[in-house]
Formats: sequence, structure tokens, C-alpha cells
Amino acid sequence: MTRYLITSALPYINGVKHLGNLVGSMLPADLYARYRRARGDETLFICATDEHGTPAELAALDAGQDVATYCAEQHEVQKTLGEGFGLSWDYFGRSSSPQNQELTQHLARVLWANGHLEVRTTKQVYSHAEKRFLPDRYVIGTCPHCGYDRARGDQCENCTRVLDPTDLINPRSALSGSTEIEIRDSAHLFLKQSTFVEPLRAWIDSHENDWPNLVLSIARKWLDEGLNDRGITRDLEWGVPVPDDIGDGLMKGKVFYVWFDAPIEYIGATKEWSDAAGKPDSEWQKWWRPERQSDVTYVEFMAKDNVPFHTVGFPITIMGSGENWKLVDRIKGFNWLTYYGGKFSTSQKRGIFMDKALELVPADYWRWWLMANAPESADSSFTWEHFASVVNKDMADVLGNFVNRVTKFTVARFDGKVPGEGDYGEDEKLLIAELDKRVAAYAGYLEDIDFRKALAELRAIWVAGNEYLTKAAPWTHVKTDRTKAAVGVRMGLNLVHLFGHLAWPVIPASAKAVHEAIMPAPEVIAWPDQPMAQYLDSLEAGHEIHPPEVLFAKITEEQLAEWKARFGGEDAD
Ligand code: 2FM
Ligand code: ZN
Repeated sequence: MTRYLITSALPYINGVKHLGNLVGSMLPADLYARYRRARGDETLFICATDEHGTPAELAALDAGQDVATYCAEQHEVQKTLGEGFGLSWDYFGRSSSPQNQELTQHLARVLWANGHLEVRTTKQVYSHAEKRFLPDRYVIGTCPHCGYDRARGDQCENCTRVLDPTDLINPRSALSGSTEIEIRDSAHLFLKQSTFVEPLRAWIDSHENDWPNLVLSIARKWLDEGLNDRGITRDLEWGVPVPDDIGDGLMKGKVFYVWFDAPIEYIGATKEWSDAAGKPDSEWQKWWRPERQSDVTYVEFMAKDNVPFHTVGFPITIMGSGENWKLVDRIKGFNWLTYYGGKFSTSQKRGIFMDKALELVPADYWRWWLMANAPESADSSFTWEHFASVVNKDMADVLGNFVNRVTKFTVARFDGKVPGEGDYGEDEKLLIAELDKRVAAYAGYLEDIDFRKALAELRAIWVAGNEYLTKAAPWTHVKTDRTKAAVGVRMGLNLVHLFGHLAWPVIPASAKAVHEAIMPAPEVIAWPDQPMAQYLDSLEAGHEIHPPEVLFAKITEEQLAEWKARFGGEDAD
């Protein structure tokens, strides 16, 4: 039996993430991890904050904090919000951890020893005022092509031409405005990626049938365009230090590039997890250095802009090490979630962010809408109108109403107990046959990591329950044929129980409440493995049930109007 290792792309530390970030990595990874656990599989779900790089330094500067304090605080903020969304990480680590530093330095050393790294001299911009090197985009000046006076060192925003900082007229620091800057030579380590084209292509081809097209096409595009060697070090203070024993003594004061150490943190955070639990190294190693690759099935979740780093960059680190690290088996990539067709933007604060979202409605409302409309085969667009209508229909009208109808009626007419009279007849058998098929289809979509289809199937299962109940109409029969009414109620209560189990990976808190209408719920609500004929006749006669208070409050017209005004609707920018 294989173990499941699941990682979600690591959110950058600089600020609260928006719903687009959530749906493109963390949330689908959580749904899949919960599904594996429900199935009884040994599962490890790992995430962490991605804490290095210039954006982290600048965000700290902006916040008036030193970068280490800033990162520590923001890590806690993101952790709390993730937990608020029900993200069931086994561990939420930090890429600035000592574990990641050790692993990053180790992998760099073996790459160096294996001859895959090379020292090259590059030209970098040095600012005397700040006493530091500036990344290209933090040098601004006048564009030599169009005369725009705030062109960045990497590109002119006005005429879109790609630039080099040395092209700029009157260059100055974007941080301080100082013009005391000069171009200096600086030695850096380059990873010779070009020598990995063949093994990479063979590996990617071996996943022809189990990676989605989105992922395959992005990975191949990179290979087809020819792989450039990649600078993996930077002249920054904040980051994993390059050890002295590599780089011909020229790496003093330099750190690794954030995209070199970030994916290694998948391993680092796993070690953080086993260290925190006081477990021996064999614990994290059984996930990352398994005896056989097939002992672990490793699944990664990410938005499409991350795909190159996970199909090319990180695998080259792993392959080049010559050590038996676990390589990813399945990659699930996502397109973009848009806000009224436009971009969600952290810098422009456009769209909905995780903290604000949780203030408005419970996490499960977001989980349901986001995964039912996940940008899988194409981009998808968030609008408040669609959100309110989907949540009100699917959750309140279809699932919530079903649970309320059956459980309240049981209290009113059957003493709040599962009635034992009567046998299942034709209608029940038809429903059982339909649900056997639908539950298998739902499981199949989850196995395939095809979330929109999975959620559509789950909804269809709820609808089938409602249709059955409408037809069985125990409230009509109870006056004339109590046994017939009892059969409908018994099936209805068994369905409520089933729904609690099936919904748990998607909307865990609500699934728990649904389940608890029937009986206390365990922490992991297991997948219903038996045939439906058995499962839907498993509640004992006389067992007492407890109708929930309001399961799903509907989003009102007033709320909708208020939120649109507050966050901006179609005209937001
Ligand atoms: O794009 C991002 O949000 C990155 N922080 C993802 C990093 S994933 C991993 F490789 F660390
Ligand atoms: Zn220009």
C-alpha cells in the first residue's frame, strides 16, 4: 500500500492571501488530503510560508519591522487564517527554518560536488546610499526608448520593452531615490540546467497519461524553448546563506535565490514536522527517501505560474543530487480565479482576502463555491451574485433543507427516534441503485483530482435525496399509513448520515454538523465503503437523533448589496 504525500504551493509571506491563492493550491490540496484520510490512507499534508526574497524584505520595510520579526508575525497570521478555512495541514512550516537551511545547503553542496554548479561573474546594481545590491526592478530611471521617467530596470511599464538597468537614463534607487548607484561585478552560482534536458524530457513523457494537459504543455514549452542555466544565488542579506565551502570562496555574504530554497522547504517542513513531534529522522525520511519510489505517492497542487518550477527547477535539484529523493508523481495545476473577470491583486488590494472572507460567512460557504467553480480547465470568475446564488441554492435549499425536513419531522412525528417499521420497497431500491452509481462516480472524480465534476456529483447525490423524499412524502402518509411514512423517514435519516460522510472532504464543519444530527462524528469522517443497500439501512430502530439549529443561513439581498458596495463589483479596479 502506498502512502500519500501532499503539498500545496507555499504562500508568500508578504501579506494575507486572496481567494485566488487559496483555490489555486491550499484548498484543493486540503480537499484531496481529507479524501485520502477518509479512505484510510496514510497521508501527510505539508505546507509552509515562503519567506525569502526581495518582496519579503520590502514588505517588512513597509511595515517598519525587521524582516525576521515581520516573517514570524505574518506566519502566525497565515496559519490562523488557514486553520479558519479548515486547512488540515499536518504541518505548516517556514522556509526560513533551520531545517530548510540545512537541507538547502546540503543539496547545493552535492550539486556543486557533482559538477552541476558553476561560478559566473554578473553585473549588478549597487546602491551606496543603502549599502546593498538592488534587484533590477528596484532601479528606476528614464526609458531610452519612450522617455517614460519611471521605467524599471527589468522592463518599461509604458512601452513594455525589456530593459537592463544599465540602459536607464538617470538611474536611481526605487527604495530611496538615491542616484549614487553603480554597476559592479558580482560572482554567482549558476545551475547548469541545460544538461538536464534529456532526463527531464524522459521523465515528463513518462507522465503523459497521468498529468493534466495544462501541466504537460507548460513543462514541455519550457523544454522546447531550451533550458537556460539559472542563477541560484543573490546579493541579499535575507535568505539561506551560501556555505563557504562551495563557489571557490566567492560566495561570502550571499544567499540562495528564493526559488531555489522554497521547494526544498517541502522537505524542510516535513523535517520540521517530525522534529516538532520529537520523532527520529527516519520519520520524515520515510516520506522523502523511501526505499522504493512507489512506497510514496507524491501529489503537488499549484497555480499554473508555479508549474515550471515544479516540473523543471525542483526536479533538476533532485535529479542533480544523485541521491534517492522522492520525485513528484502527480501535479495538479490551476488556471486563474478572476474577480469580475479582472485580476485579483495583492498590491492593489483588489478582490477578497482570506481574513475579510471569514468575517462575512463561514469557511464552508467559500470552500463550496470555490471548489465547485475551481479554475480547472479554464479561468473562472468570482462575482458576488453567483456566489450568493450558488451558496443559497446548493447549501441552504438542497443540503440544508433536506436535513431540516427529515430531522424536524422525525422529532414532530416519531419521537425523535429512527422508526423501525416497514421494509424498503421499489422506490428505495431505485434510489439505492442510483446512489451506488453516483457515489462511485464521485469517488472516481476525487481519485482523478477532478474537483468540479466531483462536486457536481455530490450535489446530484443531495438532489437525488430530495427527490426521493418529495416522492416518499412521509408527511402525507403519516396520517393514513404510518408504516409507509416510517420507511420514508428511516431512509431519510440514513441519507442524512450518508451526506455527513460524503461531504466531509469538501465542507468539513458542515459535514460534521450534519453527521451530528444523527450521531457524534469522529475527527476523520470515513468514506462510506459498503454497498448502499447496507449503508442506507444501517441506523438502528429507536436510535435518537438531534436536529441541528440552522445549518446554512441564506445570504440576503441586503448582505449582497452591502458586500458589492464594500468590495466593488463589476466596476472594481
Ligand atoms: O508563487 C508563489 O506563491 C510561491 N510562493 C510558491 C512557492 S511553491 C514552492 F516551491 F515553494
Ligand atoms: Zn519605455
